[in-house]
Amino acid sequence: MCGIVGYIGDKFAAPFLLDGLTKLEYRGYDSAGIAVFDGKEIFIEKTVGRLDALKDKLKNNLPNGSIGIGHTRWATHGRPSDRNAHPHTDCHGDFVVVHNGIIENYMSLKEELIAKGHVFKSETDTEVVPHLVEEYYQGNFIAAVREVLKRIEGSYSLVFMSKANHDELICAKQDNPLVVGIGEGENFIASDIPAIINRTRSTYILNDGEIAIIKKDSVTITDRNGKVIDKKIFHVSWNAEAAEKGGYEHFMLKEINEQPKAIKDTMRGFIKQIRPAKNNNDERIAQDGSQIIFPELKWDPAFFNNINKIYIVACGTAYHAGLVGKFYIEKLARMLVEVDLASEFRYRDPIIDDKTLTIFISQSGETSDTLAAMKESKQRGAKTLAITNVIGSSLAREADQVLYTIAGPEIAVASTKAYTTQLILMFMLALYMSQLRNTLSTERTRELISLLKKIPSQISETLSDVEPIKTFAQRYGFNEHVFYIGRSLDYDVALEGALKLKEISYIHAEAYAAGELKHGTLALIIEGVPVIALATQKSVYDKTISNIKEVKARDAVVIGIAAEGDTELEKYIDHVIYVPNTDELLIPLLTVVPLQLLAYYAAITRGCDVDKPRNLAKSVTVE
Ligand code: AGP
Repeated sequence: MCGIVGYIGDKFAAPFLLDGLTKLEYRGYDSAGIAVFDGKEIFIEKTVGRLDALKDKLKNNLPNGSIGIGHTRWATHGRPSDRNAHPHTDCHGDFVVVHNGIIENYMSLKEELIAKGHVFKSETDTEVVPHLVEEYYQGNFIAAVREVLKRIEGSYSLVFMSKANHDELICAKQDNPLVVGIGEGENFIASDIPAIINRTRSTYILNDGEIAIIKKDSVTITDRNGKVIDKKIFHVSWNAEAAEKGGYEHFMLKEINEQPKAIKDTMRGFIKQIRPAKNNNDERIAQDGSQIIFPELKWDPAFFNNINKIYIVACGTAYHAGLVGKFYIEKLARMLVEVDLASEFRYRDPIIDDKTLTIFISQSGETSDTLAAMKESKQRGAKTLAITNVIGSSLAREADQVLYTIAGPEIAVASTKAYTTQLILMFMLALYMSQLRNTLSTERTRELISLLKKIPSQISETLSDVEPIKTFAQRYGFNEHVFYIGRSLDYDVALEGALKLKEISYIHAEAYAAGELKHGTLALIIEGVPVIALATQKSVYDKTISNIKEVKARDAVVIGIAAEGDTELEKYIDHVIYVPNTDELLIPLLTVVPLQLLAYYAAITRGCDVDKPRNLAKSVTVE
């Protein structure tokens, strides 16, 4: 997720660009840059680091010029650096582009352009875009842009600037937000409303496939083929602070709702459709299917045959994702996995050698305990894989191999979209390992990948009706103790649900393996105690029902989380929250959502500071 701004009018562009980027820093902050046409040339300044680093560079040479674009980056391809910062240009600096999103086919386009003599300066996917404009430009700017948009695949919001056509900016939207602000004799572009709300509240919210040609006194919006679209003006009524949260009251709720897109973005590029070869006689790919591919992972089948132990090491929510990851790898790839808290792992003299693979999960990539555990692991000869949300983070730099969640910046202390994207990556990794080890049939692989693709829309469906959850949170939000129970994967998700409730509502919440209750905790179950019971795992369903009966017999109030179509559970408990049905391996991605919302609304009910809970930091960079 990056921040984009653009200005065209009679005033100087640079002050708006810098102010707009400041308002969008929450969208990405590893590097930033601006480009301004000063009447003769396009002036560009860009730098790695926070926006302040860019402002320092511009302190005594703020460019004049009244048309410009700017960008604050959240790296997805190419680590944070001066040369990978946006804007990017063609070979001669005649065309300049800023981009938010992922150009999926950039490698093949880059090879094609290099073969035609184009010289690239960065490692980014974005840089292919201005070179394509250079390739297609024959005097008509918008015509060249339309040709470029036919060639690129993936998700993007793009803003194009041209030295020769310096009386207009062109932008294009696909899967990533882009807003046009309408002023008096000036117009604005931004990824998000906060960047323009102090200059105008009249906006066009672009839809996928739309192109805007923006001059200082006109905005023309067309479809990809040039057909003009008569857009309605959207008047922004939010205040500036609400705008930063996309209209949501808190970043946490915004990020819970971003999960469908974050999961789509994390899956993007890793699922390949396979067609049987004409002379195919391999029954394993007898018909069309799918495969997981991880181009960045330099592993081959032999690698796993040499691995005899896998550790997954993390903290907090990332640790809970690791527990689910263990289940996936053992179930699908049939490899033994041990999961450990980083703060424990590093001090327990772990048994590691060169046949050990240690997987470290960390949203921030800066958690001190996790980093220390990785160092310990490497010193003992293990191969290391990092799963992180921040390109260029310490963990990413230290690991032998890295897989990135593409969740975008997670601002709220309570981790939500990072957790579900970690689960997605672990699931795909387990499938990938199963392909290398031939532990799953082609049919089963195809079935799981087909169900995986439906998860984003199923989460959206779950998010579409929060009222029952809000009601439970208001009714039980003042209890001082809440229990979460489940078996198998339901237990792993129960742990995450309990942590969410604890850390933002300050209610004492505990998760228990449902089968473990009778070994002690049942003594705490008394009349009126809320128990959240997850019951989605078919293989242990009847056992879970027995455990629910145990707590109901002590007059607990039981709220169940079940898959749609389950007509049994409601017979035994007080309330049921249903999530869409899917394979029991994938259902944790759905059952965690009501638990995130339950924690959120309980915290609201109790008047807690949802985004910045007491005593906690977003990234624990100290021991
Ligand atoms: C989760 O909601 C918490 N904020 C915390 O447990 C967090 O998951 C933990 O500190 C690990 O952080 P990391 O993923 O950045 O390493």
